[in-house]
Amino acid sequence: MGKTILITGGAGFIGSHVVRLFVNKYPDYLIVNLDKLTYAGNLENLADIEHRPNYRFVKADITNLQQVNTLFHEYRFDGIIHLAAESHVDRSITHPLDFIQTNIVGTVNLLNSAKEKWQGHYHEKIFYHISTDEVFGSLGKEGYFTEDTAYDPRSPYSASKASSDHLVRAYHNTYGLPVKISNCSNNYGPNQFPEKLIPLAINNIKNSQAIPVYGAGENIRDWLYVEDHAKAIDVIFHQGKIGETYTIGGNNEWKNIDLIRLLCRIMDEKLNRPVGTSEMLITFVTDRAGHDLRYAIDASKLKNELDWSPSLTFEQGLVLTVDWYLANERWLRHVVNGDYEKYYEKQYQHR
Ligand code: NAD
Ligand code: TYD
Repeated sequence: MGKTILITGGAGFIGSHVVRLFVNKYPDYLIVNLDKLTYAGNLENLADIEHRPNYRFVKADITNLQQVNTLFHEYRFDGIIHLAAESHVDRSITHPLDFIQTNIVGTVNLLNSAKEKWQGHYHEKIFYHISTDEVFGSLGKEGYFTEDTAYDPRSPYSASKASSDHLVRAYHNTYGLPVKISNCSNNYGPNQFPEKLIPLAINNIKNSQAIPVYGAGENIRDWLYVEDHAKAIDVIFHQGKIGETYTIGGNNEWKNIDLIRLLCRIMDEKLNRPVGTSEMLITFVTDRAGHDLRYAIDASKLKNELDWSPSLTFEQGLVLTVDWYLANERWLRHVVNGDYEKYYEKQYQHR
């Protein structure tokens, strides 16, 4: 008899890749996808698996305790993989309260329902919380984040994710809830909403629009292909130890400006434009408030204990990503609707 797994935020970018992996790889599991379908949630991400017998979608809001409790009464969950969140730093700067509600209150609602519903059965359950490396703050030129790095979040987004991590650990320490946490670096790949750097730049280059680079483009991120993150989540869910934290990274640091230049070269080739065409679109704009300088992960615990490492080089992953966005015009057209235009104008007009 297979497990029943609740995946929250399964209609979003990373969540949809995790749902697809689990639905395909574990036909005897029942995968229940809970998602509010905010601007970032899109059921088109799951069109290829939506009719599978081992998949269910439930539209619900994790900030609504009654909706969460109802779901826990309807299903006997063996495990939860919690990805639902407000996830974009720039939006957290303009609308911090949304992040407090979903990322903190929403997570506590899930923890509370699991605690109550799983009472007496903790030994056979898993509450797996998906988090970010941004909780550790900003690195200088040297060093890496590990599982032992002290928390030092600096944006409303990272502070709300840090709070949720603390609450997950508190439920483990206080009530014995069987939890796992992973903190991952920046993801990229198919289905990412074009508010984040890589899909935003792809979309703008495609439309011959300016590519906004914050500050001098000197900030560094450690990029991981989204399917590699989904595979790490699978490994940690099934083989990771209860009560443990794992950091996940791509071992792949790029300065924003170098990344954009590489992307420009790939786009020129794919769009049959003369070399250098896309680079001319690069536009330096006012920096993000409180912009973290560098994130970089040391993922050796995950490599040594669970034998996970990234499978793709950055060039391979970027080419796959560009190919996907160019082949999925309909998807892009649907997400870049009136709301996106309004967001874009507000976010970038005064920069
Ligand atoms: P996303 O913004 O693409 O998707 C978030 C999903 O959560 C959407 O489908 C949205 O509809 C849903 N959601 C939002 N509020 C909800 C609510 N109140 N109730 C129910 N569903 C709600 O995010 P993502 O990039 O896929 O990130 C997923 C998770 O991974 C987040 O927890 C994020 O913090 C974490 N993470 C992201 C990255 C990254 O680079 N994107 C890196 C590390 C960790
Ligand atoms: P982003 O994709 O928003 O991820 P995060 O802030 O969570 O790391 O941004 C990645 C980097 O790119 C970050 O240093 C901010 C920068 N950036 C730009 O330079 N221009 C943009 O338009 C965006 C969205 C981000």
